[in-house]
Amino acid sequence: MVPSWLAPNPRLSPAAKFGPAQRRVINPNGIPELCEDLAQCPRHVPTPLVALPALAARLGVGEIRVKDESQRFGFGAFKALGGVIAVYNVLSGAVGDAHHASASFADIMNGVYRDITGRFVFATASSGNHGRAVAAGARLFGNRCIIFLPKFTSAEKEAAIRARGAEVIRIDGDYDTAVAACKAQSAANGWTIISDTSWDGYEDVPKSVMRGYCVLAHEAIVQWQAEPTHVFVQAGVGGLAAAVIGYLWAGLRKRPVFVVVEPESADCWFQSNRTGRPTLASGNADTVMGGLACREISPVTWPVIGDGADWFMTIGEDTVMPARKLYAHPLDGDPAIASGPSGCAGLAALSRVCADRAAFEALKLGKDSRVLLINSEGTLGETPA
Ligand SMILES: Cc1ncc(COP(=O)(O)O)c(C=O)c1O
Repeated sequence: MVPSWLAPNPRLSPAAKFGPAQRRVINPNGIPELCEDLAQCPRHVPTPLVALPALAARLGVGEIRVKDESQRFGFGAFKALGGVIAVYNVLSGAVGDAHHASASFADIMNGVYRDITGRFVFATASSGNHGRAVAAGARLFGNRCIIFLPKFTSAEKEAAIRARGAEVIRIDGDYDTAVAACKAQSAANGWTIISDTSWDGYEDVPKSVMRGYCVLAHEAIVQWQAEPTHVFVQAGVGGLAAAVIGYLWAGLRKRPVFVVVEPESADCWFQSNRTGRPTLASGNADTVMGGLACREISPVTWPVIGDGADWFMTIGEDTVMPARKLYAHPLDGDPAIASGPSGCAGLAALSRVCADRAAFEALKLGKDSRVLLINSEGTLGETPA
């Protein structure tokens, strides 16, 4: 019997095809070209895909490859892709509407269409990486940016956002209060909200955020000469998981086994899989894995994750530090990887599965498996003990 922290997707049929419902969320077309465009951004280089052969042998699988996002844009997390691409899409869309011309990254960065792009002010509510990412995107293209921070966001995070040129509005309340304030003030002032999660009537921007995340999935496939058989991807609202699952499901010859990983207290996808519709997390999302601390899924991602992931699983808080240490102090011969608490969640999950015979067999893991993990964030200056 599989353990209670692991659940199959009852809606998935083995021959499930990536169809129009999925394509409306993640459109794989044009991602290689987007990767070429990104080359025009200062400091952008593809992140490495790191092989961990000694760990693979220890865990009883064929290969482990880690897409190491700790170096993305010199920013420390994959999130930079979403903020930059979503801001670019808004601006290039406006240029397209006005001039019937498509504006490249370089055009917009160099202010070629400043008369159109310059009037945009971007805003979002965030307590962490996404706010920094939107600030970075706005700065890259020369736009004003306002980030709404909940009361308890640390001074360090505020400083990191301000360092990217954004203005910060502190809200005397929690994250939801900051979202409400962002929506109200943006509507009143004509600011454009760049959110990584969707709501009724607001889907285009979260879709372009996910389009940005597809870049890392594309790079991984180009870098790996073989296709993965298993993908462990951590989820907060589900933007990263939808991009990775959707892009690989659409493009690989054989669908890998997709495992969606969440903290126990922020298990909104695990619960949604159980009920068959978007459902709140069972806990209060009080987790050290700050990037995954979400109580609600992004509804727009349902056709890809809700209908397309194979398994959902949770991990305990006590699995985080061992996984970070394993990345930081690897087995003989494997390279070290700097990971943050949300970054190492995929490895924490793989370790948990490999230590449980029933789970290992249920996922059909073994000596022929090629496992893809995503280190979604680096240490951001701190090191695990
Ligand atoms: C480091 C890190 N990993 C994973 C995630 C999860 O991404 P999503 O909320 O798109 O599921 C986040 C989200 O902020 C994050 O910051």
